[in-house]
Amino acid sequence: MKVGIIGCGYVGLTTGVCLAEIGHSVVCVDSDEEKIKKLISGKTPIFEPGIEELIKKNKKRIKYSSSIKDAVVENEIIFIAVGTPSNPDGSPDLSYVENVAREIAIYLTEYKVIVEKSTVPVETAQWIKKTIQRYKKNNVEFDVVSNPEFLREGSAIKDFLQPDRIVIGIESEKAKKLMLKLYKKIKSPKIVVDTKSAELIKHASNSFLATKISFINAVANICELTGADIEKVALGMGLDKRIGRSFLNAGVGYGGSCFPKDVDAFIWISEKLGYDFSLLKEVKIINQRQKELFIKKIEDTLWIIKDKTIGVLGLSFKPNTDDIREAPSIYIIQSLKQKGAKIKAYDPKAIEKMKNIFKDIQYCKTPYEVAKSADCLLILTEWDEFKKLNLKKIKDLMNMPIIIDARNIFDPQKVKSLSFIYKSIGRE
Ligand code: UGA
Repeated sequence: MKVGIIGCGYVGLTTGVCLAEIGHSVVCVDSDEEKIKKLISGKTPIFEPGIEELIKKNKKRIKYSSSIKDAVVENEIIFIAVGTPSNPDGSPDLSYVENVAREIAIYLTEYKVIVEKSTVPVETAQWIKKTIQRYKKNNVEFDVVSNPEFLREGSAIKDFLQPDRIVIGIESEKAKKLMLKLYKKIKSPKIVVDTKSAELIKHASNSFLATKISFINAVANICELTGADIEKVALGMGLDKRIGRSFLNAGVGYGGSCFPKDVDAFIWISEKLGYDFSLLKEVKIINQRQKELFIKKIEDTLWIIKDKTIGVLGLSFKPNTDDIREAPSIYIIQSLKQKGAKIKAYDPKAIEKMKNIFKDIQYCKTPYEVAKSADCLLILTEWDEFKKLNLKKIKDLMNMPIIIDARNIFDPQKVKSLSFIYKSIGRE
């Protein structure tokens, strides 16, 4: 099939490249000409494992352009995958979505399916439909479909090609047929619902996962107060099939471009519809408090922060990505800097991006360089590289052998047996 994708961010580009991989002809469009140039040269503007290989492999089936017209004119399905950043009041800024809908309308000359892929609040599909109806130049028919994505950064390709489910929100049989044809090669369950339910599935799923994380973080705090071990508690809870072990990893709270924004947006849309989603407000509060408690943990261990050298391992919001949006590391480094600490930092992928936020901290080339003369080492992202560190060497390099691990990557007994002072989350 012929598909146009508008927006070449994580979601749009992954969608385009994967649709090409399953045999479709794709035109990927982005207003950022630099991005398009890079893509034409076979390079990816984002770091996502496997994406560059797929871009090269499917070169013949993917075209790139900076004009929305190219995404619309010859294609039967057009995806909107532009950003929906948060406004200061927590509502999503849907102006990019609206602009794209208006432009699509201008180029409509025959029946097409317009797919909302960006994460948007319930009822947005209706607004896209109204907008296109207002701006289209002739009597042409079209359908708007909601097809939310559930891709995780770092495993986006696999999540697209082997998803747990594909959600398709439709209002017509014609659109249903075309969408099922589009995804025919992907053998996962396909759930066909109305557009509002599809939109809600996305917001409710992300908010539920965020709730799971805040819940386990709250339990981790109780573990610390009682001397219980959060890893054992999570294991015991997770074996109950109704609960499941995944997303029960305690830490410094969730970050990234999705959970914080989507929780805000769900609170906002609920309020707008007349429902106070107080549970989600608490999820947000717990998430922020988790970072504050981590700072307290550092202070409880080091006493005075001023003039101490603190080494930070891990800057990205999670492993296998260079994304630092809403990363807990930003809040933690900022707080420690305000208290007068000297910060040294290392991350396998995210240093370049972090340089735009903190220019005056020392970036290192290896974890060992960070450890050198540090009074304390913080683990803020659970990169595999950190799990394999030579802790004996780290200890010899440090000024004081103190590790405060926000991701529970080490076995406390093992680290303590090397004479480290070791603090982690929800366990002794
Ligand atoms: C998330 C969802 O998992 C995807 O299904 C969804 O498509 C995506 O948002 C989106 O809306 O676009 P992502 O933000 O890439 O994907 O990251 P996750 O792997 O879900 O992790 C989110 C945050 O939760 C990270 O900060 C991670 O460290 C934290 N987390 C996750 C925990 O603190 N504990 C856990 O047990 C799991």
